[in-house]
Amino acid sequence: MNQIFEKKILCIGAGYVGGPTMAVIAHRCPGHKVTVVDVNPDRIRQWSSDSLPIYEPGLKEIVMEARGRNLFFSTDIEAGIRESDIIFVSVNTPTKTYGAGAGMAPDLQYWEKTARQIRENSDSSKIIVEKSTLPVKTAEAMERILTSNRNGVHFDVLSNPEFLAEGTAIRDLENPDRVLIGSRETPSGLRARDELCRIYANWVPKEKIISSSIWSSELSKLVSNAFLAQRISSINSISALCEKTNANVSEVARAVGMDSRLGNKFLNASIGFGGSCFKKDVLHLVYLCTYYGLETVGRYWEGVIEINEYQKERFVLNMLNSMFNTLTDKKICLFGFAFKADTGDTRESAAIYIAERLAEERARLVITDPEALENAKDDLKGLEDISYIVDPYEAADGCDAVAVMTEWDVYRRLDYKKIYDRMKKPAFIFDGRNILDYGRLFEIGFNVFSIGRPALTHFELSPSRH
Ligand code: NAD
Ligand code: UGA
Repeated sequence: MNQIFEKKILCIGAGYVGGPTMAVIAHRCPGHKVTVVDVNPDRIRQWSSDSLPIYEPGLKEIVMEARGRNLFFSTDIEAGIRESDIIFVSVNTPTKTYGAGAGMAPDLQYWEKTARQIRENSDSSKIIVEKSTLPVKTAEAMERILTSNRNGVHFDVLSNPEFLAEGTAIRDLENPDRVLIGSRETPSGLRARDELCRIYANWVPKEKIISSSIWSSELSKLVSNAFLAQRISSINSISALCEKTNANVSEVARAVGMDSRLGNKFLNASIGFGGSCFKKDVLHLVYLCTYYGLETVGRYWEGVIEINEYQKERFVLNMLNSMFNTLTDKKICLFGFAFKADTGDTRESAAIYIAERLAEERARLVITDPEALENAKDDLKGLEDISYIVDPYEAADGCDAVAVMTEWDVYRRLDYKKIYDRMKKPAFIFDGRNILDYGRLFEIGFNVFSIGRPALTHFELSPSRH
């Protein structure tokens, strides 16, 4: 039987954004048909199986509920385009690795191919929604591609950036701080905006759905990520100063964060931010500034990335320095590899850089993580002498040091006496996330190092912490 749906929604790109976002729309709008397409047949096969391609708390439940009812996954992009009324474009927009702007500008090839494919396969008017994070004025370029050589088919391009964070994607989508829709101020642009508003209004309170010009919307997304990344770099820069002055960065963050004008979120000092977006989006912002001749502004934002690189290297140098200036043949266990807790994603994870640097110092690595071991193997496939072990007790067995890379809850609750007993002595623990109970670890016998706090050691430390 051919079911009648109110609207047919297509999403091009079945990744970390496309998959969860469409699952929530399908779950909240059972009257609409939602199809997610991708060029990668493996991804589509996984979305159609019991083992989804990404791990997100709560995702599987809603996919299982909606899949086959009004949520579909397919590789037939052209058929999807033909039948749809609204198309979300959620393809990846990585940093360009070649040619002009290499290492900084966004690579728009995937996005451009999509625009051309939409134009070639559309014989009815459609609303095109930019979900990917794109540089300001991309919607204008998309409009140009879509409207060239098409007679009678009208496209309205909207910007609707996604603000979900991995690990909390479903919660963020179900209960967003805001939904931002950028549109043209033309009658048809405003009609398209209202139509997208109506979809979100099925579960998002009206006052949280805000609108703006397309250009403000595109820029707001880059700026949101840049501000979040900036806060982390700010507290991480202060963590270095705390280590020199015996102040405690957590105490400083608490005192600063209690100022209601600043707020207490995103003030956890760490080994540096990871994830697929912060670095790339800040770099895209820097590129935009440079492109428009605003070199001083660009340099200001570049500092955010510089501190992040510094923080990762500082962590490695502190390990080296604390372990008597040589790591050769020492066995070091990394607790966690994902770029944050509750995800298996390791893209740009600080753990990749740290693992590579430790290997360069000729340490032997053991990596444990509840969800990210397969990705870790892929990230480190060029390196030798690395073991991947799911059980953290087994992973730490016979190691000289444990270094916490990811703030998984499970690492807070381990029996560290049991771990200490199985490690070589002197045993070291380096907490790159400031999640452990240092007093207790010290009592057990560990030499304890954290970020931005005084070290607790059973021997005299050489003064050169980095
Ligand atoms: P992703 O790499 O996980 O997914 C992108 C998908 O698009 C891939 O599966 C790829 O095969 C597919 N694709 C590429 N070109 C295609 C084409 N021409 N036709 C069909 N499919 C194509 O990326 P992601 O993490 O979902 O990010 C997508 C966009 O959303 C990026 O711009 C990113 O900056 C932004 N974003 C990401 C997050 C996040 O948490 N990951 C959050 C907010 C915004
Ligand atoms: C981030 C933003 O939070 C989302 O709003 C945005 O939509 C998304 O990027 C995107 O555009 O991709 P995400 O990268 O998934 O989301 O995760 P975050 O929670 O922001 O964490 C990013 C990194 O910063 C992680 O490595 C995390 O461990 C680190 N972090 C975060 C800190 O080191 N300290 C903190 O206080 C907070």
